Amino acid sequence: MAALITSLFAGMVSLLIALVDAKQPYTKFGYVGLTGPAKWGSLSPDFYACSNGKHQSPINIVKKDAIRNPKFEPLAREYKLANATLVDNGFNVMLRMESDGGMLRVEGKNYTLKQMHWHSPSEHTINGIRFPAELHLVHLSDDGNFSVVAVLFQYGAPDPFLFQIKDRMKQLAKEVYMGDEAARVPVGMLKTKEMKKSTHKYFRYLGSLTTPPCTENVIWNVLGKVRELSKEQLAELRAPLNKECKNNSRPTQPLNGRHVELYESEEHVR
Ligand SMILES: *[C@@H]1O[C@H](CO)[C@@H](O)[C@H](O)[C@H]1NC(C)=O
Ligand SMILES: *[C@@H]1O[C@H](CO)[C@@H](O)[C@H](O)[C@H]1NC(C)=O
Repeated sequence: MAALITSLFAGMVSLLIALVDAKQPYTKFGYVGLTGPAKWGSLSPDFYACSNGKHQSPINIVKKDAIRNPKFEPLAREYKLANATLVDNGFNVMLRMESDGGMLRVEGKNYTLKQMHWHSPSEHTINGIRFPAELHLVHLSDDGNFSVVAVLFQYGAPDPFLFQIKDRMKQLAKEVYMGDEAARVPVGMLKTKEMKKSTHKYFRYLGSLTTPPCTENVIWNVLGKVRELSKEQLAELRAPLNKECKNNSRPTQPLNGRHVELYESEEHVR
């Protein structure tokens, strides 16, 4: 039993590395039919948490149930100009940081920005409302814990961050996704400062990664401010994806007694 747990753990760690780095192939999963979210837990023993975890993500955030925590602080983020690669994982489009992308500080602990990726439609819903897209900024601490900042998007003006990688995105869509080999386009030095905005309000809860292996103990920070992107930009984000992953939104998961906490700056409350 201990040996099984140890090997499961080793498997999960290597999967986590694969997920963050996307350098290794791993069990295929999708968003419809036999490899869809309801089946993830049975695709691989490493995906056990996807069907058996009790603290899974995404969730529906009910605003009136979110508890304001006076101890919370504005999200402290120090992002840096970083060398990045645009990667088509087949199930999502990701920007991987090749150099130090900077830090997020949560409850006294530092988490380094490793990658960011998009989902459409959104995975988290607010009062049952699903948005056209959601961005996840994935941070990892030195002791192997994740904290993700989620940004919801509605249709509107083009998102300036996506605008700066527009050409690279077009190039990525032209690259052929070859089985396990993810397509990549070097981006070079990327400005992520833009991402630090809008942290006057956020929802925090303990959940999981929203893709296999659905690892738990992820500190989620869902920003209250909904940003805008154009329909054209969303089409560009979807273009490189596998057909069964164009809609790459995992259904919302039960709270199972969890609480969502809220940070709102004084001026925001007034
Ligand atoms: C960015 O990272 C890639 C992949 O590691 C590397 O080949 C490239 O030289 C780097 N570019 C810069 C500007 O550091
Ligand atoms: C996409 O997936 C979400 C979550 O599973 C689902 O609620 C939604 O209806 C799907 N949308 C489309 C356009 O298939």
